[in-house]
Amino acid sequence: MDTTDSVVAPASPDALVERLFNATLEAMDLFAVYLGDRLGFYRAMSEGGPATSAELAARTQTAERYTREWLEQQAVTGILAVDDAGAPVDERRFALPDGYEAVLVDPESPSAMAPAALLMAGCVKPLAQLVDAFRSGAGVPYEDYGVDLLDGQAGFTRPQFVHQLAQDWIPAMPDVHARLMSSPPARVADVGMGLGWSSIAIAKGYPDVQVDGFDLDAASVEAARTNAEAAGVADRVTFHHRDAGDPDLAGRYDLALAVECIHDMSDPVAVLSAMRRLVGDAGAVMVVDEKVADHFTAPGDDIERFMYGFSILHCLPVGMAEQPSVGTGTVMRESTMRGYAGEAGFRAIEVLPIAHDSFRFYRLTP
Ligand SMILES: C[S@@+](CC[C@H](N)C(=O)[O-])C[C@H]1O[C@@H](n2cnc3c(N)ncnc32)[C@H](O)[C@@H]1O
Repeated sequence: MDTTDSVVAPASPDALVERLFNATLEAMDLFAVYLGDRLGFYRAMSEGGPATSAELAARTQTAERYTREWLEQQAVTGILAVDDAGAPVDERRFALPDGYEAVLVDPESPSAMAPAALLMAGCVKPLAQLVDAFRSGAGVPYEDYGVDLLDGQAGFTRPQFVHQLAQDWIPAMPDVHARLMSSPPARVADVGMGLGWSSIAIAKGYPDVQVDGFDLDAASVEAARTNAEAAGVADRVTFHHRDAGDPDLAGRYDLALAVECIHDMSDPVAVLSAMRRLVGDAGAVMVVDEKVADHFTAPGDDIERFMYGFSILHCLPVGMAEQPSVGTGTVMRESTMRGYAGEAGFRAIEVLPIAHDSFRFYRLTP
């Protein structure tokens, strides 16, 4: 995915009309992908092969008339292939083009994009509340974004955890990697772990390590427990429904990790302070957060557009739900992170040399 260099210039009114019309088409595509994912259409075509509308409806227990309309929409918009567009309606057979399973079906694929559709559906679920929040200055609670947001967020980061967390990200800190491989078994605190895929990936990558995940969201904790059971690591991975900034949080860990969550927190300094306490003098703290530019620039590149888009729809309102709040938003610049780390009492903060389009990796020294 090339997300780095399409800077959007100010446009003429006519160009803006065209741009917003195209955005409307793209939004429709995204929500059609949402239906394809949630109704199991793509999975059924991947597992059972090409299908007529009646066959796909039977495989997915859906209503044929709706399924037919969706299949035709997918072919018209160029996502699915149709064998003979001129055939009678009930004989048209639709197929997933070669390689599309990796984008639309496989939850561990590095090119999975169906989660983007879930994520956007989640972001707009509380739109009316967002309008109110912009007026009142209050926030929108995380739980009001619902299961689509949780699944979309987790679906977005899960492939990266599966393929990179224990392979590249933690090994970028050789002393921490060595400790996690050694005896006695190391302990990891995974702060704001959402559906738990980061904790599960650590447990799988480091076969003796014990992981404790802490998250404020009850639905996430429950789903994370189910995921750890299914992954066969529940004996070494424990999820706690807990504010990671709770000053009473106790324990001694070799690594405290926070992925994509510090910018969502009303009080990130409290959480970073807790992480510092939990690792003592000898442990390590790793924060993975957004790789935004050092300064505000407009127009911005795709990464800035992506991050500001999430910020107005989700991250800032979520971070404002508890007051008082520092109100960070998704666009947490490196200087902001350095400020939080300093306030939390860390002696040093280093950006690790890990190549990534949209994440920046910080190692904080207690
Ligand atoms: C954007 S999600 C990231 C989830 C996961 N780390 C990932 O990368 O997919 C942010 C998570 O931080 C959690 N969170 C926010 N504030 C928290 C706090 N003070 N203590 C624990 N978890 C918190 C939210 O409940 C949510 O699950």
